[in-house]
Amino acid sequence: MTSSRAAGRALGLSRLRRRCLDLEEELRRERSRSAAIVEALTDPLFVVDGDGFIRYGHVPEEASFPLGEGVVGHRVEEFLEAEELERHYRTYRRCLSSGEVKSFSGTFSVEGRHRSYRTRFSPVEDGSCVALIRDVTGEREAESRLACRAAELERHQEAIIGSMAILAESRDGGTGAHIERTKAYVRLLLETSGAATLYPPEHVDLVWQSAALHDVGKVGVPDAILLKPGRLTKEEFDVIKQHPLIGARILERVEAILGKASFIPYAREIVEYHHERWDGTGYPQGLKGEAIPFSARLMAVADVYDALVTERPYHEPMGHDEALSVIVGGGGSHFDPAVVALFLSCADRFGEISRSL
Ligand SMILES: [Fe+2]
Repeated sequence: MTSSRAAGRALGLSRLRRRCLDLEEELRRERSRSAAIVEALTDPLFVVDGDGFIRYGHVPEEASFPLGEGVVGHRVEEFLEAEELERHYRTYRRCLSSGEVKSFSGTFSVEGRHRSYRTRFSPVEDGSCVALIRDVTGEREAESRLACRAAELERHQEAIIGSMAILAESRDGGTGAHIERTKAYVRLLLETSGAATLYPPEHVDLVWQSAALHDVGKVGVPDAILLKPGRLTKEEFDVIKQHPLIGARILERVEAILGKASFIPYAREIVEYHHERWDGTGYPQGLKGEAIPFSARLMAVADVYDALVTERPYHEPMGHDEALSVIVGGGGSHFDPAVVALFLSCADRFGEISRSL
């Protein structure tokens, strides 16, 4: 009985020893795998405990990071400036309290050059955090170059639109004020309409900037007609009525040179259709109702209001209230009733713009 119990104990110990050996082997493999993973990293990795002490560090040779593995045993605040430190700790605490991975972006100064870093904190069960730090200086510089390029492109577009519009208006003795006012009216109508839901938000500015081009086709109308004082004959007016189509052809040529620059589709809508009327009696296509692009329906109200309240060779300027009555009276025939409603809701601002520009 005794020898049988002893044999049983020996067997149990042997199994336990084997299990220990298996666990040791598993642990060894796990450590080897972890070490291989860390060695494969191209970004620095640190383990920071709950008290802010750096407990482990691995900095690959190729990493352009200002701190080495000698920081182990030091506290994080020894290496960060006060403002960065506060943000760093906020992210670090959020990571520990939520148990979720959190990111932090900051900068370090390396040999007099600022470098941008993104740190990902990953919580560990023992209350420490693994911080993986990526140098994103190159990405940030590329983003900044891209933003500069986009701003430059935007300025070029504005210059193209502006110079074409001024050229057109200077043909009939204009000073550019009509362009500035009508642009401002269209911008106001767009803002009042909540245009960000009708157009991609980044295109809203292109729509009102394109309004400057509405009469660009007048460059193709002979001086004898364009500059004629007094009333035009029917034949002369028929020539004037060609300006939306001449303008559309000009923009086709611009598109052929610039490619599909983002302002051209809006400019074409406005240029070609700003003399269409809601009831279909306008020109050049006789489009009716919603077949007329929205931008051109806004332009029609802006253009007519400005023509009414400013002095023209064929009429004295009207007062704001009288011009307002004309626009309201044209709702449903000349103008889209919805655009007239928009105009009414911001008519006071129309009056202010007409007096200030
Ligand atoms: Fe026109």
